[in-house]
Amino acid sequence: MKKQLIAGNWKMNGSSVANEALLKALVAGINSATCHVAVCVPAPYLAQVQGLVAGTGIDLGAQDVSQHESGAFTGEVSAAMLREFGARYCLVGHSERRQYHGETDAAVAVKAQRALAAGITPIVCVGETLAEREAGRTEEIVKRQLAAVIHTNGHCISEIVVAYEPVWAIGTGKTASPQEAQHVHAVLRSQLRAATEQADRMLILYGGSMNAANAAQLLSQDDIDGGLVGGASLKAADFLSIIAAAH
Ligand code: PGA
Repeated sequence: MKKQLIAGNWKMNGSSVANEALLKALVAGINSATCHVAVCVPAPYLAQVQGLVAGTGIDLGAQDVSQHESGAFTGEVSAAMLREFGARYCLVGHSERRQYHGETDAAVAVKAQRALAAGITPIVCVGETLAEREAGRTEEIVKRQLAAVIHTNGHCISEIVVAYEPVWAIGTGKTASPQEAQHVHAVLRSQLRAATEQADRMLILYGGSMNAANAAQLLSQDDIDGGLVGGASLKAADFLSIIAAAH
């Protein structure tokens, strides 16, 4: 059976002192983890966290990557730079990037391509807003978002991780029910099956208010292969409970 992945998304949180305390608590509690575990940290902390997770089995991730390789792009961070600091994963197309930074489906697809070219696994986020869900457009939206990434990345698509994050569930305490989430994951899986023979071994994570109380039920659904965890990844006890619920 494939191992699930529990990835923490710290967003714009942390400090050198807080990061060290959190990682030490995670490392101390993680001994028996049977799933893959990663933390996606703000770029300035990559070097620090690279040191803290070395040899622990926890993988390092970034939260965004430039769609350009190098050059006059002030403020941006390239995939090669992330790789140099040991990033194994990179979030791509998180809804906060799409919403506040105008990232289009095409830009997200190129970012995934840059990550792959640098040997980093992009965790490609897709998800509908509340208005889109209420208008019955959930499947159309997530399929459109994933189609752009499939189109640009061709046969490499089997190397990505997908994260389904309904926008209305992020940071709100509202979670998609396990059945609602499973339904969308199955839609995404069949879209991947049409693109690659490897679809069944690919990971599709659920994200959006996953916590210690709801993780086990979500993670037991057929097509949910892990979690992308925001708020609850900042508290060691909560994140460890979610890891313990995974397999
Ligand atoms: P949340 O965030 O767990 O705080 O809802 C998830 C995410 O945005 O990745």
